[in-house]
Amino acid sequence: MAEKVGDLSGDEREQRVAELKRKMQEAAHKKAQAAPAEQKPVAATVAAPVAASAPVAVAVAEAPVAVATVAEPAADIVTPVDSPVAAVATPTAAVAQPTAAPRPPAARTEAVAAPVEVEGKGINRREFLTYAWGAALGLLTLEAGVGTFMFLYPRFRAGEFGGDFIQDTNKFGDKDAAPNPEPSGKFWQVTTAEGQHKALYMVCVHLGCLYKWVPANNRFECPCHGSKYTHDGFYIEGPATRSLDTFEVTDEGDKVVVHTGKKIVGAPASESPARAPTV
Ligand code: FES
Repeated sequence: MAEKVGDLSGDEREQRVAELKRKMQEAAHKKAQAAPAEQKPVAATVAAPVAASAPVAVAVAEAPVAVATVAEPAADIVTPVDSPVAAVATPTAAVAQPTAAPRPPAARTEAVAAPVEVEGKGINRREFLTYAWGAALGLLTLEAGVGTFMFLYPRFRAGEFGGDFIQDTNKFGDKDAAPNPEPSGKFWQVTTAEGQHKALYMVCVHLGCLYKWVPANNRFECPCHGSKYTHDGFYIEGPATRSLDTFEVTDEGDKVVVHTGKKIVGAPASESPARAPTV
């Protein structure tokens, strides 16, 4: 290089000049290629925040050609906004939206599941309905039971069989008087040899026939199987196994109250004072 061009021969001078031209053209070509690269710092400045917020922007930054393509619309967006960072953040958010889009279905699932729970009870709708039906059925059964009991429970009024009969004392007569029937109360009114007022139930204690007073024999006789009872209702003979049943009576001065709801079972036939002697 220390040689001067003027010292070279004709061919060497031409080669040297051609070499210098070629180097100058290469230098000019490199400079021309380097010219677009001078914009690189600008693109890098814009791409840097994008890369920090979105992986997509990183891919763009690694490809210079793609940066030029993306940077131009980004510059258009930047125009109304003073800060390029904000301009880049806008498309980034647009890219992020599809990721958040599936959330609404999840919210609907929670909204459907929420009514199933009954707040503060700790039971679900099915259990609540089961308990409600059980309680309603139990209440209905209870009401039906009470209604049936009240319908079947015997209620007697005074003057009706099963209730109280207020009779004059003279209806019982004296100890020698014939028994006096009271059909509505289903009892015979008698006065015993001891002067006690008795109300004899009209139904035979054998099998339930209605016995009759036979004045000729001065006793009661049952037409069904022949059981016989005294004027005071004691067993004499026949298939019956006890004396006649009676109703409870209360002496109230000139009145005798017969309680037809309170029956007194007759004493066994073996204890009857009028029992016929066996042969
Ligand atoms: Fe009176 Fe049989 S029913 S004796």
